[in-house]
Amino acid sequence: MADNELVAVERTGAVAVVTIQRPDKLNALNAEVVAGLARAFRELASSSDPEPVRAAILTGAGKAFVAGADIAQMAQMTPVEAKRFADAGHALCHLIESSSFPVIAAVNGYALGGGCELALSCDFIYAADVAKFGQPEVNLGILPGFGGTQRLMRRVGAARARELIFTGDMVSAEQALAMGLANAVFPAAELLAKARETATKIASKGPLAVAASKRVMLHGETLDLPTACELEAQTFAALFGSEDQRGGMTAFLGKTKATFQGR
Ligand code: CAA
Repeated sequence: MADNELVAVERTGAVAVVTIQRPDKLNALNAEVVAGLARAFRELASSSDPEPVRAAILTGAGKAFVAGADIAQMAQMTPVEAKRFADAGHALCHLIESSSFPVIAAVNGYALGGGCELALSCDFIYAADVAKFGQPEVNLGILPGFGGTQRLMRRVGAARARELIFTGDMVSAEQALAMGLANAVFPAAELLAKARETATKIASKGPLAVAASKRVMLHGETLDLPTACELEAQTFAALFGSEDQRGGMTAFLGKTKATFQGR
């Protein structure tokens, strides 16, 4: 199946919904799905788009978000092929994590292995009450290969990440919420509407400001505090050269609502 049939993109104004469509295999990530997702996110980021994307939602069709990397495809891989596959997964997760617009993972069901890692590369996670999260790779004799050993630890803390990765246990949406893996849990039927509501709210804000906040938080995570704060101060200052800053503050002082142009 062509990679663009495995990944659907729907646009409503500045909000995009990216849906992984391989429900018969619980949206398992084979090389084609990984390529389809990378293509979709690259196209959404394309600056030639007349109405740029300001927020995106990533979700899965059917009862799973993503039940992991495709075990049937991985089973016969040589170390060289496995490295190529892991590199493609890492590149995809980095593409999502570093995109100029926020991406919400709407986790509608299983988010296991590479699925949990994909959700972790999004800015935050909304979960359906039926969702289940886990890094079950040790059951297969491997370790997480799309960033789970690193991003899970940064999200939920080292001890919880170690427990999840060493046991391979799944946790419920409520447990994911309690450990800070998910930001909120909704009845399954309401998940997408709630994610759209938040994405639409984000899309109405100053896009340069949202993108800059995302960039500073992402890069700041790997810097010492004084350097990260300096990065924040410089980025803060740079925004004072934008029409969005002038328009936003003028609108506040004039008691009107700002409409941001992203300039
Ligand atoms: N890879 C390939 N196929 C998968 C899959 C996966 N990760 N997960 C599910 N499927 C397939 C099943 O083989 C099955 O296909 P057939 O109908 O052709 O047999 C179909 O999806 C439906 O799955 P089940 O019948 O197993 O559904 P279930 O409801 O009984 O169980 C489940 C659901 C508990 C999620 C179970 O499917 C499961 O344990 N899946 C594997 C989870 C896993 O180990 N994920 C980690 C993969 S490794 C990884 O991701 C590495 C990395 O970090 C990059």
